[in-house]
Amino acid sequence: MKLTSKSVALVPIIVTVATAAIGATLIAPPAANAASTLGAAAAQSGRYYGTAVAASKLGDSTYSNILRTEFNMVTAENEMKWDATEPNRGQFNYSNGDRILNTAVGNGSRVRGHALLWYQQEPGWAQRMEGSDLRQAMMNHVTQVATHYKGKIYAWDVVNEAFADGNSGGRRDSNLQRTGNDWIEAAFRAARAADPAAKLCYNDYNTDGINAKSTGVYNMVRDFKSRGVPIDCVGFQAHLTNNAPSDMRQNLQRFADLGVDVQITELDIAGSNQANAYADVTRACLAVTRCTGITVWGIRDNDSWRTGENPLLFTNSGAKKAAYNSVLAALNSADPGTTTTTTTTTTTTTTSNDPGTGGCTATVSLNQWNEGFVATIKVTAGSSALSGWTVTTTLSSATVTGSWSANRSGNSGTVNWTNVDYNASVPAGGSTEFGFQGSGSGSGLNPTCAAR
Ligand code: G3I
Repeated sequence: MKLTSKSVALVPIIVTVATAAIGATLIAPPAANAASTLGAAAAQSGRYYGTAVAASKLGDSTYSNILRTEFNMVTAENEMKWDATEPNRGQFNYSNGDRILNTAVGNGSRVRGHALLWYQQEPGWAQRMEGSDLRQAMMNHVTQVATHYKGKIYAWDVVNEAFADGNSGGRRDSNLQRTGNDWIEAAFRAARAADPAAKLCYNDYNTDGINAKSTGVYNMVRDFKSRGVPIDCVGFQAHLTNNAPSDMRQNLQRFADLGVDVQITELDIAGSNQANAYADVTRACLAVTRCTGITVWGIRDNDSWRTGENPLLFTNSGAKKAAYNSVLAALNSADPGTTTTTTTTTTTTTTSNDPGTGGCTATVSLNQWNEGFVATIKVTAGSSALSGWTVTTTLSSATVTGSWSANRSGNSGTVNWTNVDYNASVPAGGSTEFGFQGSGSGSGLNPTCAAR
């Protein structure tokens, strides 16, 4: 919302309060015409349900029957990776990748391409390379593989797992990263040039909830979108144990709000709460319009890379598990005309001090649910550029549990937020955003902005 008043300097003005209730009932009964397979159930809301596939298992009739009947998206578990497709520099081998693709197409499924660049499963020759020689080999690999599969891939994981675990929010060290920080955007540009029809995704793990790592990815995606780097989607692997992160939906939504699709790309869940957790992940995706589909990382428990953890939807003998039934029920509950499962209130409150010359305004967009919220704060410069800014918020009945793109003074009461290095400069009339997650109520934040 644009502010027009210039007459009352430094006086807080409440400009707009708009409140919309989204969904308010508990689990809907299955639709009368509930679908009986995962793919068909997901398709009712325009989504897909996929699985990772291993070429070596396609001859197993139990495996291939479940694949054909239940799933409508396929990811090659290993066969489109760098070590499989370019075992020697400049010599490409697509035999197993093509087998999977042709099987999927024969079944009426689409294909997610996985993965053009990943620091693991590099062929030995690439592992031994560094610098500009490696950069050239990387870009050639992206171009060649994306060209081979041109027009046949729904979405490519262009780059996989480039961010570090832990609290840094930064990139993971690898020989790919050491070729220069721009390697990810260079890969996305090369992929777009080779296959303009494929959606181009960044994919990672431990990014399923709001945390330092997912915020690092979020900042990269936001930067890419602002500079026109071609990115269309973000994959959240969701290798989980017992529970989905409580803020998974909010995390998916904040990425979607950047203008990218989001997808659950490698789902598997170990532990005794498996069936509930699978339903929670399903509902998190269904609640986000731009969450276009879910892929599980294998079919039967003994197909999983997590040996002995039984994290998938089918038993070793191919029987449906309780987790399967809970996913199917959740997908069927999203049938148009039925209801959603949580109570959420989205409130957009715009509060400002008049920027005057050299000042700034702060507005907040609040996504509040029962026990917490995500606040996104937009800082807009007045008629002069900013070289730094401070936003003050009031958290009278809330505690900040995580934040991104700003430094903060505390976590409750009066909280001051100051720019970080990369968003200190805001041109006249321009804007930047930061955000935070909190427990409690986010109403009455009343952000005010001052130039530093
Ligand atoms: O094919 C060879 C076989 O010939 C050999 O005898 C055997 C001996 O170890 O190895 C076989 O290759 C294995 C391959 O899976 C196929 O089974 C590799 O050793 C093994 O490392 C490889 O593991 C894969 C792993 O990525 C590699 O890091 C898993 O199958 C695959 O599920 C896993 O998938 C990754 C995603 O790509 C990215 N996100 C995490 C996910 C789980 O780690």
